[in-house]
Amino acid sequence: MSVNEKVALGRLERFERSGQQVLFIFAAARLAVTVLENGLLRVRYAPQGQFRPRRSWAVARDDQEFAGSDFSIEENSETIKLKTACLEIAVRRGDGGIELRDASGRVMLQDAPEQGPEFAASGRLRSLKVLPTGEYYYGFGERTGLLDKRGYRYTCWNVDPVDNNLDHGPGADNMYQSIPFYMALRPGEGGFGLFLNNTFKSVFDVGNSKIDRLAIEAEGGELDYYLFYGPDPATILSLYTSLTGHTPLPPRWALGYHQSRWSYYPEERVREIARQFRERSIPAEVIHLDIDYMDGYRVFTWDNRRFPDPARFSRDLAEQGFKLVTIIDPGVKYEPGGDFAVFNEGLEKDYFIAGKDGQPFQGYVWPDDSVFPDFARAEVRRWWGDLHKSLLESGVRGIWNDMNEPSISSVPFGQAGPHIEIPGDTLQGNRAEPATHAEIHNIYGWLEDMATYQGLRRLRPNERPFVLTRAGYAGIQRWAAVWTGDNSSVWEHLEMAIAQLANLALSGVSFAGTDIGGFWGSSGPELWARWIQLGAFSPFCRGHAADGTPNKEPWEWGEEVEAIVRKYLELRYRLMPYLYSLFEENSRTGTPVLRPPLFHFWQDTTTLQLGDEVMLGEALLLAPVYRPGLDRRLVYLPQPANWYDFWTGLPVSGPYLVAMAPLDTLPLFVRGGSIVPFGPVMQYSDERPLDQLTLEIYLDQNGQASGQLYEDDGLSFDYEQGQSCRTAYLVNTNSGGQVRISANRTGNFQPPTRPVEIRLHPLTGDIRIARLERDENQWEIEL
Ligand code: GLC
Repeated sequence: MSVNEKVALGRLERFERSGQQVLFIFAAARLAVTVLENGLLRVRYAPQGQFRPRRSWAVARDDQEFAGSDFSIEENSETIKLKTACLEIAVRRGDGGIELRDASGRVMLQDAPEQGPEFAASGRLRSLKVLPTGEYYYGFGERTGLLDKRGYRYTCWNVDPVDNNLDHGPGADNMYQSIPFYMALRPGEGGFGLFLNNTFKSVFDVGNSKIDRLAIEAEGGELDYYLFYGPDPATILSLYTSLTGHTPLPPRWALGYHQSRWSYYPEERVREIARQFRERSIPAEVIHLDIDYMDGYRVFTWDNRRFPDPARFSRDLAEQGFKLVTIIDPGVKYEPGGDFAVFNEGLEKDYFIAGKDGQPFQGYVWPDDSVFPDFARAEVRRWWGDLHKSLLESGVRGIWNDMNEPSISSVPFGQAGPHIEIPGDTLQGNRAEPATHAEIHNIYGWLEDMATYQGLRRLRPNERPFVLTRAGYAGIQRWAAVWTGDNSSVWEHLEMAIAQLANLALSGVSFAGTDIGGFWGSSGPELWARWIQLGAFSPFCRGHAADGTPNKEPWEWGEEVEAIVRKYLELRYRLMPYLYSLFEENSRTGTPVLRPPLFHFWQDTTTLQLGDEVMLGEALLLAPVYRPGLDRRLVYLPQPANWYDFWTGLPVSGPYLVAMAPLDTLPLFVRGGSIVPFGPVMQYSDERPLDQLTLEIYLDQNGQASGQLYEDDGLSFDYEQGQSCRTAYLVNTNSGGQVRISANRTGNFQPPTRPVEIRLHPLTGDIRIARLERDENQWEIEL
C-alpha cells in the first residue's frame, strides 16, 4: 500500500497531560499516549485532529476501565518521554514517531528514523518500524507457515481461501481470521506485543519488502495501537487478553471428541455413527450436522424427510452421551413471496445489509441466492440470537458458524466462478452509528458469533454456550472456539497445524483445532493415525471431512489405526481433569491451553524457532511425527528442565534425543516438577463423575513438584456463584530422601467420594505407588 498525498504530522507544538493520557498537538495532527497499566500503553494518532468515537462493537476495553499507573514526563530538545516503572515511551518532536524502551534503556520498538507515521487523505495510513536483527515474531492470528513469522507479509482481511492445497500452504497469506496482533521476542531478553486496534484491511510487512523494516498499514480507521510489555510471552498475552477478552469456561463436553462430516444424514446414518463409536469403545461426545440437515440450506430449518423428529432423535443420542452441534451460515436464502420465515421477517424489519439502492445485497452461498444480516446492529444480533430457540428446543447443544467471512460466490454454488465481497462502501450499523462494510468486514463473523453466544446464553441462562466459528477477529476468543477451516489430507498440512495452533494460541485464541485427518482428499491410514496424535491434544478436537471424500471415521482405516485412535482418545479423556483445569486457567488469565515451548522457555534460544513441538499446559511436551514412513524423530527438550518419557514414566536425558515413534507412539514428555491429574477412561465426559483420581508426580532436580486440579459441575454457570473447587498439590523431598505429598482444596464444590492413586516418578527411575482410600479436602502423605 503506498500512501500518496500524505499528511505529515509536522512538528510538535505543545503537549497536555490529563490523567493517564498525554495529548501531543502537532502542527497538523494529534497523538494521544495513554498509560493504561504499568506495562500497557495505547498510542493513537488523529491526523485530522479528531479521534474516532468508540464503537459499540469495539473489541477493546475502554481506557477508563484500566487501573492506570504512575508515570513521569521528561523533555529534551528531541523528545518527550513518559516513564512508568517498567517502560519508557519517547515521542519525537520532529515527526511524531515513537521509541519504546524498557526500564534498563534497551530499545524495544522504534519508528523508522527516516519516517514518522504517514496518513493519506484517502484514509490510508502507515507506520514504519525498525526491525532489529535477531528478533523473532509470533502471532498474527491464523497463519500457515512456520512458527517464526519474520520475513513475510500478513494481510488482515477475512477470506475463504477456497479449496485447494496451495491456499492453505506455506505461501498462503490471509485466511478466515484476521488478528492484527503480534509478539516480538529477542533471545534472552524477551519482548513486547503490539495490537493494531483497527478492523479495516491492514497489512503487516515483517521485513518482507525491506529486511530491516516492519511496515504496518491500514486502508482506513485510525493508527491506534496498544503496546504490551512482557518481557515474557505469558505477561504479554495476559495483558493482550485482558484487553481483548478471555474465553468463557466452555461446557466440559465441548472438550470431548467431536465427529463431523459434510454431511451426516439421514438420521439413521447419524445413529449408525453413534452406535459404531459405542460398540467399538472409541470415546466420542459430539456429532456435527453439516448443511444437509437443513431444508434446502435454509438456516434454522430442518429437512423433515431426513430428520423427521429432531427432538426425539437428539434425545436418543443424548441417552448414549452424544451432543448435537448444527451448522449455521450467515447467508439467508433469498426467497421473496415464499414462506421462509427467517427471510420474510428479516426483510420486513430491514435486517439485511442493503446496497445503495436500498435493496438487500445478494450473493450466492449454499442456498444459492442469499442475503446477509447486518450483525453490526444490536437489534439484528438479538433477532439472530433468538432464532436459535427452535434449534435448542430440538435438543441441539451447540452452534457451528461457517462461511462467515462472509464467503460469497458470484455464481450459484457448484459452478466455477470467483468469490465476491460486499462492496466496501456499503453502509452497515444503525443510523446513530453508521459504518461501512470496509470497517465491518473483518468483524462480520465475530459479530455473528457474539449474536450466537449471547442468544444461546439468553435462551439457556444457566448452561454454558458452545459456539464454533470459522471467521474471526481479535477477541474472537470471547465468543467462540475456532477451527482452521478447509485444510487437506496431506502431510504438509499436519506439519503446518502445529505452528498454526501455536500462533493462534499466541494471538489469544486458545480453543482451536484443525480438521483432524484433513478436510479435502484422503491420503490414508498413516496420516490419520499421526493426525489424531496431535488432534487428541488440541484444545478443540474434531474429525471432519469434505463432501465427496471417502468415509474417514476412525474405524475406516483398519484395525491398527482404530486401536491407535482409541488409545489417544482414551488418553484425552483420562487427561480431562488436567485439560479442564487448563481451560479454567485460560478463562481467567488468557494463558493458552496448547502453547509453543517458547511460552515457558523463551530464555532458551533454541525454543524461539521450535515450531514442531508443542506443550499442553506446563507439564506435557508433544513432538508429533508429521512425515510418512518414520518410526523415530528428533526431539528437543527445552532447558532448563528435567524431562520424563510419558510412556515409560522414566527420566530421559537431553536436550536432544531421538525418540522412538512407531505408528502407535506419539513422542510425549513430561516436565520434571509437574503433577498431572488423571481420571478414568470414559466414553464421554459426563459418563461418570470423577470418581477415581490418579496423580502422576514427576520430580524436578530438587525433588519437588506442584500441580492443580479445578472442578465444578462442568455445565452450568454456578461456578460464578462459587460452586467450584481448586486443589493445589505440593511435593517436597527432605534431605533424608523422604517425599511428602500434600493436597489443599479450596472452594465450595464437593467432588465425589473417590480414592486417589499416587504415582511418583523420581529422577532415580524407581516409580513408587501409593493409594489413598478417600480423597479429602486436605491430606498429606509420605512416600
Ligand atoms: C465449508 C466449511 C466446511 C463445511 C462445508 C459445508 O467448506 O469450511 O467445514 O463442511 O463448508 O458446509
